[in-house]
Amino acid sequence: MAFGTNPRTAVEVTRGGGFGFVGAGYRNPESLNEDFAFIRASFPNLESNKPLPVGYGFIGWLLDKDEEAGKQMIDIVIENGVQAIWLAFGNDLHHWVEHVRSSPANARRCSGHRPLIFVQVTSVEEALVAANEWKVDVVVAQGTEAGGHGGARTPSTFMLVSEVLAALPQDGTAPPVLAAGGMANGTQVAAYLTLGAAGAVLGTRFLLTPESPYTDAQKTALLAARSAGSGATVRTLAFDYARDTAYWPAHINGRGLRNKIVDDVEAGVDHAAVQARWKTATAAGDSSYMVVFAGQGLALMDGIKPIKDVMAELHAELVKQLQKLPRAVAAKL
Ligand SMILES: Cc1cc2nc3c(=O)[nH]c(=O)nc-3n(C[C@H](O)[C@H](O)[C@H](O)COP(=O)(O)O)c2cc1C
Repeated sequence: MAFGTNPRTAVEVTRGGGFGFVGAGYRNPESLNEDFAFIRASFPNLESNKPLPVGYGFIGWLLDKDEEAGKQMIDIVIENGVQAIWLAFGNDLHHWVEHVRSSPANARRCSGHRPLIFVQVTSVEEALVAANEWKVDVVVAQGTEAGGHGGARTPSTFMLVSEVLAALPQDGTAPPVLAAGGMANGTQVAAYLTLGAAGAVLGTRFLLTPESPYTDAQKTALLAARSAGSGATVRTLAFDYARDTAYWPAHINGRGLRNKIVDDVEAGVDHAAVQARWKTATAAGDSSYMVVFAGQGLALMDGIKPIKDVMAELHAELVKQLQKLPRAVAAKL
């Protein structure tokens, strides 16, 4: 999650039994280099030839915008031995998949393991290309409920994961598929595991933690929006028009809290004027124009709590739910 994660959140998720990613979308090579002393120090017992148990995520169109800086950033994370690299939202992601595989930085890697390549997809077609042609290690199927950027025409996570699983080869050669979008608790994660997903990706839930880099104002807005249920958020390019970041591939937009930016764009206000209003409001600390990316699962989130506790709760709920299944099967026999 660009702007929604940092090395600390990623480390805490991994320590809690998950696998944490740092969203490096809008970062630069200089700042990225500074992450690794902290991450390495967070895993003092890690053997020197083992990969760092965190991943780094990159946004394709931002890598394309400055190809040299993009390559440098990917090389930095490879050299530092991260376990996984996540790619999404680009018109030529294959080029970046190949860069991860063939970069000379692999020879300088401080771990014996090459990074696993995760690609996030928003349609069955993208999933088939990523799995069958690019041979990625993990496919992340992101449904419309998801917070942040995603497919403007994407179906629900349940539908997309079902369709992707049905479309991929059934002979054991397909990469694992993770479900992403709309999850707030372990009961939902259990539903996706029983559907056939190999795992679940949660983003918005980690914004409501003390470790999250979201500001207090953004966290307060998230908490306040829960009462509006799943209708609190909207998929739109309005936030990107305001921030001048509307360079996403076709059919990608972003889900966030409905605010005055959305009202303005829907009312037909010129994008340059929306940008000016957003800048003025931001400078004045006016939260009615604040951009707060978040998914529909927000409605089910119960407040701000440390990542350690979120992970423990997710695990306990997941196990409880899965343990019910054998009893349900036995009762029918
Ligand atoms: C604030 C925020 C930033 C995000 N940034 C990225 C990103 O940089 N790259 C990406 O592939 N997905 C990004 N996402 C989407 C997540 O990868 C994930 O699919 C999503 O958070 C899952 O849905 P959920 O938020 O409902 O849990 C972002 C999501 C949020 C909420």
